[in-house]
Amino acid sequence: MVLKTRALVLFQILVWSLPGTFSLSSGSLSDISCLKSITDSLEDPLKIITPSWTFDNLTEGSICGYVGVTCWNTFGRVRGIELANKGLRGEFPRGLLNCSQLLILDLSGNVILGSIPQDINHILPSIEMLNLSNNHLSGKIPLSFTSCSSLKVLKLNNNRLTGQIPQQLSQLNGLSIFNVANNFVVRASARLCQLGYNHA
Ligand SMILES: *[C@@H]1O[C@H](CO)[C@@H](O)[C@H](O)[C@H]1NC(C)=O
Ligand SMILES: *[C@@H]1O[C@H](CO)[C@@H](O)[C@H](O)[C@H]1NC(C)=O
Ligand SMILES: *[C@@H]1O[C@H](CO)[C@@H](O)[C@H](O)[C@H]1NC(C)=O
Repeated sequence: MVLKTRALVLFQILVWSLPGTFSLSSGSLSDISCLKSITDSLEDPLKIITPSWTFDNLTEGSICGYVGVTCWNTFGRVRGIELANKGLRGEFPRGLLNCSQLLILDLSGNVILGSIPQDINHILPSIEMLNLSNNHLSGKIPLSFTSCSSLKVLKLNNNRLTGQIPQQLSQLNGLSIFNVANNFVVRASARLCQLGYNHA
């Protein structure tokens, strides 16, 4: 039993030290799972991301060269996903929660359908810039945005959102740009007007 365990440990050391294979950190594996969830959730009829996002290179950092993906210099984790105006169609990818170091997400100008997940704070806990403008999003603006404490820019304009704008959003001190123009939402509070909410 002990011998078997030792052999297994040795085998693992050998496998983990082979260059280029099996050498990905858990963070990178998580990011890969996140990016794969985007290709699973969103159709790419214009074939813009599919040829680039091949997932066939198992070297650390290879996903950082994918179309629309930017990484943190120091630890190679995905920092930004910018896929504006790429003709992508489908529901908001919940698997984005596996990009746990994500600061910037721009999916504007696509055909994102359905509602914004009500637990968006769980999916994008560290998000600073979120641009979902010019899509087909419906449903309510999640109250849980209030828990995205790093949020600086939130653009939801030109969608089909309904309901009230959560007044609690005004408690987000860092939020400097908030745009919900051209939706079906109920008028913002006075504080949100000061934040640059514009109806035009
Ligand atoms: C795999 O990705 C690494 C890091 O981006 C790169 O240096 C290498 O050339 C790639 N290998 C192939 C076969 O494309
Ligand atoms: C996140 O990654 C884990 C591990 O790869 C995976 O099992 C899980 O399904 C992913 N979560 C989502 C929501 O895709
Ligand atoms: C989305 O908003 C961000 C923040 O203002 C901006 O940098 C980005 O260019 C916007 N995307 C598009 C397609 O305009």
